[in-house]
Amino acid sequence: MTTLDRITPVRELPLENKRCFIRVDFNVPLEEAAGKMVITDDARIVEALPTIKHAMERGARVILASHLGRPKKGPDPKLSLEPCGARLAELLGVEVHMPEDCVGDAAKKVVFDLRAGQVCLLENLRFHPEEEKDDEAFAQKLAQLADVYVDDAFGAVHRAHASVHALPKLMSERGCGFLLEKEIAALGKVITSPDKPFLAILGGAKVSDKIAVLDSLLEKVDAIEIGGAMANTFLAAKGVAMKASKIEDDKLALARTILEKAAAKKVDFLLPVDVVVAQSLEASPGDVKVVDVGAIPDGHMALDIGPKTIAAFDERIQRAKTIFWNGPMGLFEKPAFENGTFAIARAMAASRAFTVVGGGDSASAVKQAGDDVAKKMSHISTGGGASLELIEGKKLPGIEVLRR
Ligand code: 3PG
Repeated sequence: MTTLDRITPVRELPLENKRCFIRVDFNVPLEEAAGKMVITDDARIVEALPTIKHAMERGARVILASHLGRPKKGPDPKLSLEPCGARLAELLGVEVHMPEDCVGDAAKKVVFDLRAGQVCLLENLRFHPEEEKDDEAFAQKLAQLADVYVDDAFGAVHRAHASVHALPKLMSERGCGFLLEKEIAALGKVITSPDKPFLAILGGAKVSDKIAVLDSLLEKVDAIEIGGAMANTFLAAKGVAMKASKIEDDKLALARTILEKAAAKKVDFLLPVDVVVAQSLEASPGDVKVVDVGAIPDGHMALDIGPKTIAAFDERIQRAKTIFWNGPMGLFEKPAFENGTFAIARAMAASRAFTVVGGGDSASAVKQAGDDVAKKMSHISTGGGASLELIEGKKLPGIEVLRR
């Protein structure tokens, strides 16, 4: 269910003087530079600010908690939330207290010393394996720290983990933050009441990552545009010689089934008609060729969509009233193959449709395409897996548990 039905928004929760546990998703991309971990995109921290500021202004004692990365063997200094705490302190202009653990005496000491309006950020929840096991006893330890629970971690609501699932069940005062509310409203509109024509644009490496979402979108959309390496598999399934292109050989039959289903449902299924090819992923912009599909030279691989494809995709984009986009059109991390992805971002920004970008690579491509492009999207989701699962129509554990 993708509505806010029976979920209390943070603005209606009692916060004054309460210890308010806010589950945020500060799982931000990090890079190591000069022995320090540096945040390369702070969007998830920025997007959590409205809820954090609201709780501070209402006089709550704010306890923030998040996971970061996928630590497998307990605490890992490279996955400490310390850089996130430092960035948050800069953004808020106040001190952010940081206990060295998320439970136990270290956490209690900091949390119980907080005064109204003060903020702390607990250390990475996944330093405890119990978090990913949805462990009840671990959730009890977190519950002891707070009176009120707010979930604003949209990126993590598809995980039945202790801080998003077992914990809220233990808290009688619970609800959603402004970010979670905004995400559910935007993605919910896309799947429950999209204005037609409804266009989905899917890209990325693998058909296998997108089967479930493709299957569910075929029931709802008028057209689908496919780019990225997953388009190679569809083209190969139609008999096109893709030469050295990356193809999922074991998914050719599945791709044929999806094409048949699209035809039966009368969904226009647009595949690339031309592609940018090269002999190596490391090719420079001067070493690439644009060819029609069907004319890929031996030893070459398709790494981006070509100009005819961009024009055809753009034409549908300008006619659509609702657009959902997930996954790049090519290897956009490399300048030689970025054009297709950025062109789609710009075309969406120019359209008058309700435009939603599912997180991860497409969200970062939109931002790289320019500030003006990002600003013109109706919604850029902070969740990758979570946004896809919501679009699939799944019930997400971290959302369902908030309902009264
Ligand atoms: C994400 O980045 O998609 C979320 O933070 C969830 O992280 P996970 O895939 O490691 O559970």
